[in-house]
Amino acid sequence: MRIMVTGAAGFIGSHTSASLIADGHDVLGIDNFDPFYDRRTKESNLQGLLEADNFQFVEADIRDRGRMGELFTAGAPLDAVLHLAARAGVRPSIQDPVGYEQVNIAGTLNLLQAAITLDDAPKFIFASSSSVYGNNPKVPFSESDPVDNPISPYAATKKACELICHTYHYLYQLPVTCLRFFTVFGPRQRPDLAINKFAGSILSGEPIEMFGDGTSSRDYTYIDDIVAGVRAAIDRCSGYEIINLGSTRPITLTDMIATVAGACGREAIIQRKPMQPGDVNRTFADVEKAARLLDYKPTTPFAQGVARQVEWLKSSY
Ligand SMILES: NC(=O)c1ccc[n+]([C@@H]2O[C@H](COP(=O)([O-])OP(=O)(O)OC[C@H]3O[C@@H](n4cnc5c(N)ncnc54)[C@H](O)[C@@H]3O)[C@@H](O)[C@H]2O)c1
Repeated sequence: MRIMVTGAAGFIGSHTSASLIADGHDVLGIDNFDPFYDRRTKESNLQGLLEADNFQFVEADIRDRGRMGELFTAGAPLDAVLHLAARAGVRPSIQDPVGYEQVNIAGTLNLLQAAITLDDAPKFIFASSSSVYGNNPKVPFSESDPVDNPISPYAATKKACELICHTYHYLYQLPVTCLRFFTVFGPRQRPDLAINKFAGSILSGEPIEMFGDGTSSRDYTYIDDIVAGVRAAIDRCSGYEIINLGSTRPITLTDMIATVAGACGREAIIQRKPMQPGDVNRTFADVEKAARLLDYKPTTPFAQGVARQVEWLKSSY
């Protein structure tokens, strides 16, 4: 298959691209090195990929509609588009909602529009997020639960994209799968995400900020499990589906900090701060649909994943 991966220089994009090229697929990676975090980190994510003959990289911005149109039609036909590029992160979206709208919604529309101009529509896999569930009172979170109450601009952009993806499926028969990722962790995790931030601070003996009383929880999902789910979604994408990819294993903030500190071999110095606006209280995935449609079965124990991430962090210092 020939697959376009947007956001290929990012955390999930670089891992998924590596897995695809290792299995002989051709990957066209797109990324604009958005300054949300250091370009050098993203360049280092790409390092191994650029050596492969079946990986092509183009620095381009998904907001550039003309450029996206060119990339969709240049070269061999695309079998699938894995659309991961986005402004990610809940809290910064409150500071810059318009920037999030432009990349996440307008950028996604540019790709959908380019996809339908092709004679053979590629499969379209969209990276959605558990944040669309907001403070859903029911657990575990199921794809059939109402998601009409996002509590951050980021979450609202992801929900908007799920809707616009449905429209393109309905009007143009584009096969679409929207994957709702639940807090992904592991080597190369985004630097703004808690495990990476906390591990970095603990290793350097600096205090960490704990928002809330420590009882909030997240269904942390290891990157290899996410890659397996994404790969299955690319293979099996048909019709229009929304599918959770999580672990069904919520971990409280207090337990997460203890696990990270254990992996670092040092005590965490905790500074307590109030809960942040936009942050949900808990996430907890129902993965029955993913198991049924994708044979998805997350296997990495939390402590093992954290240990691997901390080892990677130490080696990248
Ligand atoms: N990491 C998670 O826990 C998580 C959870 C839920 C959903 N997601 C979603 O998964 C996707 C990947 O997340 P990630 O954690 O790998 O993030 P990431 O920031 O590491 O990767 C995203 C990549 O997109 C690129 N990008 C941003 N704006 C762009 C633009 N205008 N044009 C081209 N490229 C652009 C960035 O440079 C970055 O390399 C995102 O859509 C994110 O919203 C991630």
